[in-house]
Amino acid sequence: MPVEPPESPPASEGPRHVALIMDGNGRWAQARGLPRTIGHREGVQALKRTVQAAPALGIRCLTVFGFSTENWRRPAEEVSDLMGLVRSYVASDLKRLEREGVRVRVLGSRAGLPADIVSIIERAEETTAHNDKFLLQVAFNYGGRADIVEAAQRHADRVLAGQATGPLDEETLGQGLSTAGGPPVDVIVRTSGEQRLSNFLLWEAAYAELVFQNVLWPDYGPKALADVVEQYRNRDRRFGGLSAAPALAAC
Ligand code: IPE
Ligand code: IPE
Ligand code: MG
Repeated sequence: MPVEPPESPPASEGPRHVALIMDGNGRWAQARGLPRTIGHREGVQALKRTVQAAPALGIRCLTVFGFSTENWRRPAEEVSDLMGLVRSYVASDLKRLEREGVRVRVLGSRAGLPADIVSIIERAEETTAHNDKFLLQVAFNYGGRADIVEAAQRHADRVLAGQATGPLDEETLGQGLSTAGGPPVDVIVRTSGEQRLSNFLLWEAAYAELVFQNVLWPDYGPKALADVVEQYRNRDRRFGGLSAAPALAAC
């Protein structure tokens, strides 16, 4: 069975779903002699600009990496700063997102998060659940491996409870992931010049295009996102098959 549906639109139509590893906040601040926390604060402004620019570029879904399961390794003060950003982002932007038809979904584990953050996440999801113009997925306390393990465990629990039978297949596992129900990821972008996934969307990355940009996340905005769309349009997505473009005539 193909990893992506055969009806996946050609790349020339542009990506519907862009996933972003928002990296480089610390280096942005460091370059200015500022504390890392200022870099994270500027990163939230970049996120707002990017979400606002996406629909006009034909994008219907953005998934952004806000906090990884490995980011708990950072100093407690920085972890608490990053939690604080969720509070301020939702407090300042939820009304606008709701009004503009954006559905917010938070991917990742709620276990271990402060109770007020869990309530904020639930409120954001509930108040925007009816929206369908745009899907904003925020991966927070998210790890790709943990997400796959949870999906497998969910299936095992259903089998043990007599609610499911048969061997686990790709479709069933995919339905257990936190991204289930959303459009397939067309392109994964990482900013800051690093070239790795850092445990982001491991399953979904199977046939996603990859784009690495040298811009530090706080400097991100409509221009950088338009550049991603342009690069994506020029990709030839084959999914293991052959190019849809006509072969060059032999000279
Ligand atoms: C990305 O910026 C934000 C998060 C990981 C939450 P970093 O904080 O990783 O910035 P750098 O990589 O140290 O520059
Ligand atoms: C990935 O960035 C996590 C987020 C952007 C939230 P990191 O900065 O944590 O990744 P590494 O440590 O450079 O791999
Ligand atoms: Mg980083």
